[in-house]
Amino acid sequence: LGHTIHFFDEVDSTQRIAARLAYEGAPEGTLVVAEEQKAGRGRLDRKWFSPKGTGIWMSLILRPAIPPQRAPQLTLLAAVAISQAIQEVTGLVPDIKWPNDILLDGKKCVGILTELQADPDRVHSVIIGIGINVNQTIEQFPEDIRAIATSLAIEKGERVKRAPLIQEILLRLERLYEQYLAHGFRPIKLLWEGYAVSIGKPVTARTLSGVIRGIARGITDDGLLILEDEQHNIHYIHSADIQF
Ligand code: BTN
Repeated sequence: LGHTIHFFDEVDSTQRIAARLAYEGAPEGTLVVAEEQKAGRGRLDRKWFSPKGTGIWMSLILRPAIPPQRAPQLTLLAAVAISQAIQEVTGLVPDIKWPNDILLDGKKCVGILTELQADPDRVHSVIIGIGINVNQTIEQFPEDIRAIATSLAIEKGERVKRAPLIQEILLRLERLYEQYLAHGFRPIKLLWEGYAVSIGKPVTARTLSGVIRGIARGITDDGLLILEDEQHNIHYIHSADIQF
């Protein structure tokens, strides 16, 4: 992965560029990296703050032979790979908040956005967008996210080099992806659960169809969150915002 890297000083969004490259037939493993994004995109139509030179803003093209329903597994796989890489490079131990936020000290330092080009039965490409706050100081975050955001440098107390981290992420992604293609999601799921903060804890899930409160019991082999509500009903959550 990452044999072909498209590097930009400034883009609207690496997701959009990667999607176009994928549509035009770019091979699996193609990576788009930018110093700055003018219109970085987050999940649920949010903006992703991507200032110049302080973070890692990148999008990776994968072409797994899987049905579209399995694509969320790749988001979880990416979260594990990035957590492993952060741990290896900085010594910090991240937590994963389902499905794909990576936290340090309870605050978000990584976001992952997975987008698909697919038919009903077959994936053409998966674009994994990765945003990592690396060297921001707390004052460099917009005021409205200061209480909930952090960077690797803030947590570590010193600057962190971006290139070795990108390299380590690609290496870990490649290993886990090969494992996934050969053995399915099970081994990835076990690793994911090792990093997950929410398992066994009470959480509130805001879904499109309403709010569910319960205890997070784990994830299914398809990557859905298992929530047990106060009446002991089990809910399987595809997509939601989770609060503790
Ligand atoms: C989230 O909402 O947590 C996901 C954030 C994903 C941000 C990354 S930065 C690189 C890529 N390009 C984008 O526009 N978004 C993703």
